[in-house]
Amino acid sequence: MKTTTPHWIAIAILGTLLLAGGIKVIVLGSTAPADDGRTAVLLEPAERQAVLGEMRVLLETTQTIVAALADNDLPTIESAARRVGRAAIATMDFKLRAKLPLEFKKLGFGTHDAFDDIADMAENNADTKAIQLKLADTMNRCIACHATYQLSASSR
Ligand code: HEC
Repeated sequence: MKTTTPHWIAIAILGTLLLAGGIKVIVLGSTAPADDGRTAVLLEPAERQAVLGEMRVLLETTQTIVAALADNDLPTIESAARRVGRAAIATMDFKLRAKLPLEFKKLGFGTHDAFDDIADMAENNADTKAIQLKLADTMNRCIACHATYQLSASSR
């Protein structure tokens, strides 16, 4: 009986280390400090291209919505915003998802949710001023994420 106690201690220590390691991976993702003070998310070239491609769609969507707001064109706002809503991330590669830091995912998924909110507002004939305010607020997420992260191509 005496000899079993150290085993449990070893298992507890190992378990704690594994848990701490797991939490670190989930929170930090695959990152490194960047030269410009931001955090670099280290992605394979194809993953980086995929994320940047999504970014350009976000910029296009924002332009479409700004123009449609000026035209009072709610159906265009709804379809453009819905296209980058939460459903857009359902197909995200699991391997890529695991490399993104928790804060990045919160900001990113929150942005897609915000576009769903904009689509809902347009669908429910909300005031364009209210949609404009929501878009301005949503764009604070673009700013916050760009201020914090950059994307580096790595072979890892
Ligand atoms: C969760 C983080 C995050 C959010 C939210 C985010 N971006 Fe980005 N975006 C990035 C990162 C990281 C880069 C790469 C920056 C770098 O490497 O310097 C980037 C790059 C871009 C680029 C450059 C694309 C290219 O081809 O080089 C555009 C355009 C862009 N984002 C638009 C947007 C717009 C518009 C929004 C908001 C509607 C937005 N992004 C929201 C993280 C984010």
